[in-house]
Amino acid sequence: MDVYYVDGEFVDAADACIPVNDLAVLRGYGVFDFLRTYRGKPFHLEEHVERLENSARRIGLTLPWAAAEIIRIVHETLRRNRHEESGIRIVATGGASTDFLTPQGKPRLLVMVTPLAAPPDSWYSAGVKIITFHFDRLITDAKSINYLAATMALEEARRCQAVEAVYVDRENRVQEGTTSNLFLFRDGMLITPGKGILSGITRRVTLEIAETLFPIDIRDLNKEELMDAEEVFITGTSKGVVPVVKVDENVIGSGSPGPNTRRLMEAFRRYTERYADAH
Ligand SMILES: Cc1ncc(COP(=O)(O)O)c(C=O)c1O
Repeated sequence: MDVYYVDGEFVDAADACIPVNDLAVLRGYGVFDFLRTYRGKPFHLEEHVERLENSARRIGLTLPWAAAEIIRIVHETLRRNRHEESGIRIVATGGASTDFLTPQGKPRLLVMVTPLAAPPDSWYSAGVKIITFHFDRLITDAKSINYLAATMALEEARRCQAVEAVYVDRENRVQEGTTSNLFLFRDGMLITPGKGILSGITRRVTLEIAETLFPIDIRDLNKEELMDAEEVFITGTSKGVVPVVKVDENVIGSGSPGPNTRRLMEAFRRYTERYADAH
């Protein structure tokens, strides 16, 4: 049985619950972050906690816990679970509210550690299909718990035999996926949007690795450029670097993972190994 940290206590996952007057339940008001382990070591935990704090600031939620306290609780929750690799969810809820609408300074902290669900090997060897989905995310640099559009977009993706949906905003810009960032290669240049997105930590690491390998252009991308790209890939905590070979019904490049993407996938894999060795 998994053990979760819920508002000050460690409990069995089956017994984990929060009161129904929490704004997370009533209004989708709260923030979260998700990270994973590599060889048992939480990957860039400090950075994820920093992002959680930033998300909270962006939605006006005051967190009473210091970053060091959250980090300590994550390590302790990990220690109480025994998975080979873990997915770690850190949630800060809006807390109890007597008017059922406004925060009253009682956020709850939840840390959920579960066995990591790794995507199938075929995603990396054959590439995946993604779809486009028209939507403008609100407060894009905050990881709010409100994933209404993401849930709907992913359902649509599944109906289309795709694994991810990427948001296209009202100005026809392709921004990012429901839980991933988007990259493409065009004339050997690595291009990724820089505005109106969540700053993915996998994206940040990928850009750091790519710096020595390819010219990089961080700029807006439109849907036509995506469809015309030589190579496309997505990045995210749960999936790493995943080659995209089809967007909607449009085949990308040769229809199989391109050489630049494969190079980056390999470099990312080596980076995670070095990270696990060093921590
Ligand atoms: C909207 C959005 N964009 C991008 C990402 C990728 O971020 P990371 O690489 O930190 O997982 C996520 C992660 O869930 C996300 O929800």
